[in-house]
Amino acid sequence: MTRMARWIDGLEQQAEQRLSPNVYEYFRGGAGSEASLAEAEPAWDALRLRPRMLRDVSSVSAETTVLGIPLRTPILIAPSALHFAADERAEVATAEGAAAAGSLLCVSSTTTVSYPSIAEAGAPWWAQVYVLGDRGLTRELLGRARDAGASAIVLTVDSPLLGDRKLIFDAHITPAPGMPGPHYGGMSFTPTGTGNAKDLTFEDIAWIAAAAGLPVLVKGILRGDDAAEAVRAGAAGVIVSNHGARQLDPVVSSAWALPEVVRALEGTDAPVIVDGGIRRGTHVLAALALGAHAVLLGRPVLWALTVGGADLVARLIDDLTAELELAMTLSGAGRLAEVSPDLVASERH
Ligand code: FNR
Repeated sequence: MTRMARWIDGLEQQAEQRLSPNVYEYFRGGAGSEASLAEAEPAWDALRLRPRMLRDVSSVSAETTVLGIPLRTPILIAPSALHFAADERAEVATAEGAAAAGSLLCVSSTTTVSYPSIAEAGAPWWAQVYVLGDRGLTRELLGRARDAGASAIVLTVDSPLLGDRKLIFDAHITPAPGMPGPHYGGMSFTPTGTGNAKDLTFEDIAWIAAAAGLPVLVKGILRGDDAAEAVRAGAAGVIVSNHGARQLDPVVSSAWALPEVVRALEGTDAPVIVDGGIRRGTHVLAALALGAHAVLLGRPVLWALTVGGADLVARLIDDLTAELELAMTLSGAGRLAEVSPDLVASERH
């Protein structure tokens, strides 16, 4: 195990001690038999790098630009619900961590604090939405995200229903003392059920982009044909994700699905982002080499937030970025533009 992996594992153990058993289980858990949850990280571990030698690596930087936003790192924060359960300052603290690390935050639709208070932290951010049965309410939510300064919409499409999980927050988490209900952009309503309208299709992407006046990234794509169709329908990019293995189980790991999606979008300028089980700098390097423009971190951010608030969220991203830069240095790639598919072995010898 690398030093980083031990640090993250330790973080989870510390978080487990601080959280109530229900909240810890809600954050940690996956769907079904958790077969896909167990496979997520090993799928990245199984990839092998093919480093280039005798390249000038006297200066190495993981700086990048995603959808026109300059960032110090391609390691971004995934949307996850209810940061209040980890830290009383909730998503505001997460956003401060993202700002300090030069990263970007995807704000879950089930944030417990308002968009403007998150925006004040100064990190670039994207608003994750589900399309509710009432499209009018969705329009209002999109408008609120845009007005508060979101620079893109993350449309999560893998949740027409919740996966088969042991704990769901409506039933098990909201009664936690002092916890406000889900914010939904400050709108005063309680959605019935969670997740998307079941009649959501590719045709919805265009009106969502128009209503928000923002680029739409479609999150939860696991197939090349779906990725191509989403971009044809107006998506600015896609996020390869199985929702942290919390929806369908068993399902392909994102490390497995990524190359097919990248191939399907060749010739477009639509960025591909990936999440699920990314825990090491070498995982990030492999994801970028396979064609991702950036990666998202889910649970590790929740552990860091629980144990050390904004500062530890920043340190998590900084340390993982340092690991990525070490892996780039040892692979002969000084810039992310030099991280190309040949850095990953396509077959075992
Ligand atoms: C999530 N995820 C998620 N995704 C989303 O689009 N909207 C959401 O509200 C949530 N909520 C959520 C809560 C919790 C507790 C977790 C763990 C995850 C999925 C998340 O964005 C991301 O896809 C995965 O978490 C990435 O996998 P790792 O890094 O956790 O392995």
